[in-house]
Amino acid sequence: MPTSDRQRWHLRTRGTSYVVSALADGSGLVLDYWGPALEGADNALDVVPAWDEPDRLVSFSARADAQPLEYASAGQRHASFSELLLDRGDGRTGARWTLVPDGVVHRARHAGDELIVPFVDETATLTLELRMRTSADHDVVRRSARLKNDGAAAIDLPRVFSAAWNLPLGQHVHVDYLAGTWAREFQCRSTEVHWGTFSIGSRQGVTSLSFSPVVTVSAVDDEDAFHRPGGRAYGVALDWSGSWRLQVETTAVGQHARVSCGLHEDVTTVRLDPGQEFTTPDALGVFAPDGAHGVTRAWHDFQRAELVRDLSPATRPIVYNSWMATTFDVSLEQQKELAREAASLGVETFVLDDGWFTGRDSDRAGLGDWQADPQKFPHGLSELAVAVEELGMRFGVWIEPECVNPDSELYRRHPDWVYRAEGRPLETIRNQYVLDLGRSDVVEWVMDTLRGLLTSAPINYLKWDMNRPVTDGGRPGDHHGREWSVQHTRNYYQVLELLRAEHPGVVVEACASGGARIDNAVLARSDVVWPSDQVGARDRLVIQHGFLSAYPAWVMSSWVSDDHGHRDRRPVSLGYRFAVAMAGVLGIGGDLSTWSAEDKSEAAGMVRAYKSLRAVIQHGDVRTHGRPEENLYAVEYVAPPGDGRIVVLVYDGDRDRRRDRETSRVFPTGLLPGMRYDVCDASGNPTGETATAETAATLGVAVRFAWAMDADVLVLVPRDERRVV
Ligand code: GLA
Repeated sequence: MPTSDRQRWHLRTRGTSYVVSALADGSGLVLDYWGPALEGADNALDVVPAWDEPDRLVSFSARADAQPLEYASAGQRHASFSELLLDRGDGRTGARWTLVPDGVVHRARHAGDELIVPFVDETATLTLELRMRTSADHDVVRRSARLKNDGAAAIDLPRVFSAAWNLPLGQHVHVDYLAGTWAREFQCRSTEVHWGTFSIGSRQGVTSLSFSPVVTVSAVDDEDAFHRPGGRAYGVALDWSGSWRLQVETTAVGQHARVSCGLHEDVTTVRLDPGQEFTTPDALGVFAPDGAHGVTRAWHDFQRAELVRDLSPATRPIVYNSWMATTFDVSLEQQKELAREAASLGVETFVLDDGWFTGRDSDRAGLGDWQADPQKFPHGLSELAVAVEELGMRFGVWIEPECVNPDSELYRRHPDWVYRAEGRPLETIRNQYVLDLGRSDVVEWVMDTLRGLLTSAPINYLKWDMNRPVTDGGRPGDHHGREWSVQHTRNYYQVLELLRAEHPGVVVEACASGGARIDNAVLARSDVVWPSDQVGARDRLVIQHGFLSAYPAWVMSSWVSDDHGHRDRRPVSLGYRFAVAMAGVLGIGGDLSTWSAEDKSEAAGMVRAYKSLRAVIQHGDVRTHGRPEENLYAVEYVAPPGDGRIVVLVYDGDRDRRRDRETSRVFPTGLLPGMRYDVCDASGNPTGETATAETAATLGVAVRFAWAMDADVLVLVPRDERRVV
C-alpha cells in the first residue's frame, strides 16, 4: 500500500506535533514525526511523509525488528526489544496484532487531542489499545496501553510496559538522568548510548533513591539541530511511584533511539483472568527545540498546567519542622517554645515531626500506633495545635502510615498485614516492616487512622513519610500477588485522593527517606515534596540543581538547618543557608533554641524578603547557570507575565578567593529585549546598576554579596515598562 493510503493521525501539543501511522498490514503503529508544530493541522499530513522502511536495512532481519513501533510485543518482534511479553500457559507466548479500524477514536479538540487505536491478537481473544493524549496548554504527550482478555483462560503478562518512544536522533545519543542514594539524591549524571541499551529503574515498590523515572535524550552529532547551543532534545518520564524501569536503546538497524518504560518486569507479573483488563501507568514524552533547558521548561509547564491543585502560599507555606532540633525526644513545653521562636521569624506552619505517638522514643518501636503519646501529650495533640494557632501559625504532623514496627500494638494485632514471602524470615529495614497496602482492610485502616488523627486536633499539614523499600513483596496464595507493587501504588494514590477529597484544607508533603518517592504521579497528589534528608547547604544545592531539571520549584521544600552536610562540609553563612532553602519552598529546621539574637533577627529579615519574592521563585521560569560545584553558581527565576521581575540567587563556591568575588558577575538570560531593568537587592532597593538583555549577556550583572559574604540575592525590576532608546 502506498504510504499516503495508510491511516495516519496528527496529535498537537501547545508547540509540537506528534504523528503516527498504522503499518500497511495493520500490524502496528509507527512514528512518522515528532518535532516543532506542523502548521495547519489539516494539511500537516501532506507535509510529513509516512515512515517507510529502508529495504537495504532490513534485508537480513525481520521487518518488525527495525520498525519504529510505538508498542511492540514478542511474537510481533523477534530480535529487538518488546514492550509486551505474554504467556498463555499452554506453550504459546507473544502475540501478533491486527488493527481494528472501527474502534479507532481520534478527537481533535481545542483543549487537546486524543487517539485510541485498538488491535486484536491472532486468537481474537486479547485486545490491545494504544492510547495517546495531548493538551493545548503544554507539550507533553501522554501514552498508555490497555489490555483486555476476552478468552476463556488466564493470560500472564511477564512484561507490560507503557509505551515506546522513537526519538528521531539517530543511533548515537547522549542521555541525561538523575541518580542518587540516601542524602545524595538527584545527582545529574549522563552517558552515551551507541548500539546498546542503558537501563534505570526500581524494584523496591517505591520510585527509589537510586534513580528518577525521567531522562533527557539528545543526539551526539546532531547536524540537523536548528537551534544552537542546546540542539533538539526529548524528555521521557514515567508517571508512576512503584517499581519501574526505563531503557534507552539504539540498534544498528533502526534509525531512532528508542525509549521504553513501564512497570519493572523483575518484580511484576500482571495476570489477566478471563474478562479482566489492565491499563498501564502513563508514559510522558516531550520534545524541545532548545535542548535540556527546553525540556526542563516543558516539564515545568506540564506540571503547572496538569498537576497542581493550587499555587497559593496556603498550600506551600513556610514551615518550621522540629525533626533536627528534637528528633524522638519531644515534649509539649519544648515544642511550644520552638513554636514561639518559629512564629517570631515569620514561619507559617509548625510541623511536629517523628516521636509524638505512643511508644515512639526511637525508631525501634511505636510505628503503627497513631495516637499521641500520653506521656508527652497528656491532652492529645490539640493542646499544642491550639497553642500553635494562637501564635498565628498552622499546625502539622509527621506520619508514616504504610509501615509498622514489629514492636507495636498494630503489629501484635495484625501480624498478617505485612508483606511476606512464604517460609522466609521477615526482614526489617530501619526496624520496620511494610504494610500490604494491596489489602482492602489495610487501606480502610489507613483511611480511618487518618480521619481519626485529623479530627483529633486542628491539623492542617501532613508530612507523609515512607522509610523503607519493599524487599519480599507479595501475598502467598494469591495469584495476583505478583502485582503487589501495582496494587500498593494504586492504593497509595487512592488514599491520597480520598484525603484530598475529605480534607481539602490539609497540605500534604510527600517524603520517603528524603527523596525516594518523587515523580509526576506524586506531584499530582501532594502539594510539596521533601527531596532529601541532606540539609547541609552545599550538598543540598547539588541535589536541588538536579531536582529542578525535572521537577518544579513550587514543590521543592528545603530547610535552613544547623547541619554542615556530609560531603562538602565547608562552613557557610546563615545567608547562604537561607539562599539555598529559598530556592523553592522555604522552611526552617534548625534548633532555634541555640540561635543567637542576631541570627534570629537576620533570619526574620530573610523570611520577609522571601515572602516578597516567592511568587517569582516558585512560579517563574527556572534557569540554572553553571554547576553548584563551580566557583560561582546561580539560579535565575523569570517571573510569569504580569510581574516582570527576575530573581537571581547566587552562590559562591569558594569564599576564600576574595579577588574573584570582587569581580563576580552573573549573566541572566531572561531579560526582555528592549526593556531596561534596575538591579536591586533582595528588599527591592536599587543598587544603582541597570541592565538590559544585551548588557546582561555581554557584561553581566555585578554580584556585590550584599545578602551575605558567600551568597547574594539580586532582583531585576523592569523600569515602568519603559523602552530603551
Ligand atoms: C525520615 C525523613 C526525615 C524524618 C525522619 C523521622 O528519615 O526523611 O525527614 O522525618 O524520617 O523519623
